Amino acid sequence: MNIPSHIAIILDGNGRWAKKKGVPRALGHKEGCEALKRTLDFCNDIGVKYFSVYAFSTENWKRSRAEVFALIQLMRFYLPRLEKRAMEKNTRVMTMGDISAFPGDVQKMLDRLKSTTAGNTGLCFIMGFNYGGRDEIRRAVQKIAEKVRLGELEPQDISEDTISAHLDTAGIPDPDLIIRASGEMRLSNFMPWQGAYAELEFPEVLWPDFSNEDLMKAIEIYNGRERRFGGRNEDEA
Ligand code: IPE
Ligand code: IPE
Ligand code: MG
Repeated sequence: MNIPSHIAIILDGNGRWAKKKGVPRALGHKEGCEALKRTLDFCNDIGVKYFSVYAFSTENWKRSRAEVFALIQLMRFYLPRLEKRAMEKNTRVMTMGDISAFPGDVQKMLDRLKSTTAGNTGLCFIMGFNYGGRDEIRRAVQKIAEKVRLGELEPQDISEDTISAHLDTAGIPDPDLIIRASGEMRLSNFMPWQGAYAELEFPEVLWPDFSNEDLMKAIEIYNGRERRFGGRNEDEA
């Protein structure tokens, strides 16, 4: 089986999972974190090189204060544990999204997590926090415009690679497979630039219930797809 080099997952369905069980939404998010721990370990085991996840969008601030607070508390709980696990497993942790919107202590945890694991050479785990694809492109355009203003870059020299290199995912290859849990069939502002040629899958399973078998099933479906990138298979008539 061909394991995709970069798998991205939109972690969706925590709220519906909680509702189904008759428990508070925060508990759904906690179970979502447990599912993420499992899936991260599994990606390590099967040799995925890049694993990225959509954990908190630029639009998720619209939720109630209580829910946003619960999500931030989960970051406070899980990030130090993730650091320990990442060091044991030689995992490099990165983030995408503007983390300056989070409380100072959480920003420090994220900065620490990134710098402590920066030298690790195994799986690269990229977490989207306050991530929105449009906001990421907006920030990239600002950085490029500043270079033009300083005379470091000519407008006609701005290539697709220039844009990729100014995104939060600079240096990370595009995702091969984007999976959204919970059956919703939309990307909700996740990796619009990087995902241009990704294969998409929308399994019905709610994120807290997502198992290693669900990931293997997605990889099997991926293996049955023909990726053409706009070209054509010359063997066919
Ligand atoms: C995904 O679960 C987690 C975040 C967006 C933070 P949801 O909270 O969106 O769960 P549903 O979609 O309401 O079921
Ligand atoms: C997308 O899920 C964001 C994350 C999973 C972090 P949402 O639940 O916020 O997206 P919509 O509102 O259903 O599009
Ligand atoms: Mg949702």
